[in-house]
Amino acid sequence: MAILLPGGAGFIGSHTAVELLNAGKEIVIIDDFSNSKPSVLDAIKKITGKDFKFYEMNYMDREKLEKVFEENEIEAVINLAGFKAVGESVQKPIEYYTNNISGALVVLDTMRKYNCKTFIFSSSATVYGDPETIPITEECKTGGTTNPYGTSKLFIEQILKDTYHSDNTWNICILRYFNPVGAHESGLIGEEPQGIPNNLMPYIVRVAAGTLPELSVFGNDYDTPDGTGVRDYIHVVDLAKGHVKALEKLEKEKEGLYIYNLGTGKGYSVLDMVKAFEKATGQKVPYKITARREGDIATCYADPKKAREELGWTAEKTLEDMCLDSWNYINKGKEAQNGTFFG
Ligand code: UFG
Repeated sequence: MAILLPGGAGFIGSHTAVELLNAGKEIVIIDDFSNSKPSVLDAIKKITGKDFKFYEMNYMDREKLEKVFEENEIEAVINLAGFKAVGESVQKPIEYYTNNISGALVVLDTMRKYNCKTFIFSSSATVYGDPETIPITEECKTGGTTNPYGTSKLFIEQILKDTYHSDNTWNICILRYFNPVGAHESGLIGEEPQGIPNNLMPYIVRVAAGTLPELSVFGNDYDTPDGTGVRDYIHVVDLAKGHVKALEKLEKEKEGLYIYNLGTGKGYSVLDMVKAFEKATGQKVPYKITARREGDIATCYADPKKAREELGWTAEKTLEDMCLDSWNYINKGKEAQNGTFFG
C-alpha cells in the first residue's frame, strides 16, 4: 500500500515526501518538473535513506495516471501538484484553472475508478479572502479571493465538499496552509522560485545573498503595529509533518471531510521578518518602503487550535529556524553549483 504524491518533487511536496518516508510510509511520486527538478528526488533519497517509485508525467494525463494505479496499490493521494504564483495566475487564468482544477478532477475521477477514496488537498489561507476575524478559524467565511490562484483553491474545496456530499464513503482532508517558508535542515531541498521571487522570504534571501539589490516593502500604512503586512510564517518541515498527522487522522476515521488550518498562530510583519533574518544570519537586508501591492491584505494569521486538538499537531520550529534554514539552503545550492557540495 502506498501514498501517491502528485507534485511530490515540489517545495512542499518534497518535504512531505521526506516526512512520510521518515514515518515509515511507502510513497509513489508523480511530477512533470514544471516547477521542480529531477535532483530533488535524489535529495529525498539521500535525506531519508529510503527509495520510492517515481513517474515523470503530468497529473492530468489520465491514461498514465491509470497506469500508476494499475501498477501500485494506492491507498491515499496527497495532491501537492498545482500552480501557485499569485501574480502569474492573473496573467494566465486559463492555465491556472486548467492545471489546478482539471488536475484535481482527473485525480479524483481516477481515484474513484480504483476505489481509492482517501484524499488530502493542499489548500491555502487565501480562501479566506480578507478575513472577517483574526486569528482565522476554520469556521471563518471563505470567498472573496482576489486572483485565479486563490479562486482555484476555493473551487477545488467546493468540488471536494460536493464530492463528499454525493458519496459519504470519501475520506477527505483539506489543509489550509498559511505562509510556508524555510527548508529542510540538511539544505538539500528547499524553495527554488523561477526568476524573481514573488514571496517575501525567498526575496529576502536573495537580497542577503547579493543577487537582488534591495527588498521593496509593499506599504507601511496598514493597520498593523508597524504599518507593514502581518502574516503567519510556518516552517515547511512543520507543514510537511501536518500532512502525516492528517493522513493518520484519515486512516483512523475511515470516512469524512475535515478542514484544518496549518499555521503557527503567530503573526509577524514584513519588518519583523527582515530583523529576524538579519539577527539569525548576520546578513544585512537593505530595503525601501514602496506602494502597497495590489490584492494584499493587512493581517492574516491562523488559529491553529483545531489542528492541535484533532490532529495532535503543532508547529514546533521557530522564526530563527525558518530564517537559518532558508539561508542555509541557498548557500548549499551555491556550493553545489561550484562543485564543492555534490562533488
Ligand atoms: N512583501 C513585501 N515585499 C516583497 C514580497 C512580499 O513587502 O517583495 C510582503 C507582502 O506585501 C505581504 C508579506 O510580505 O505583506 C507576505 O507576502 P508573500 O508574497 O510572501 O505572501 P502572501 O501572504 O501574499 O501570500 C502567500 C502565498 C499565497 C497564499 C497566501 C495565503 O504566496 O500562495 O500566502 O495567505 F495564498
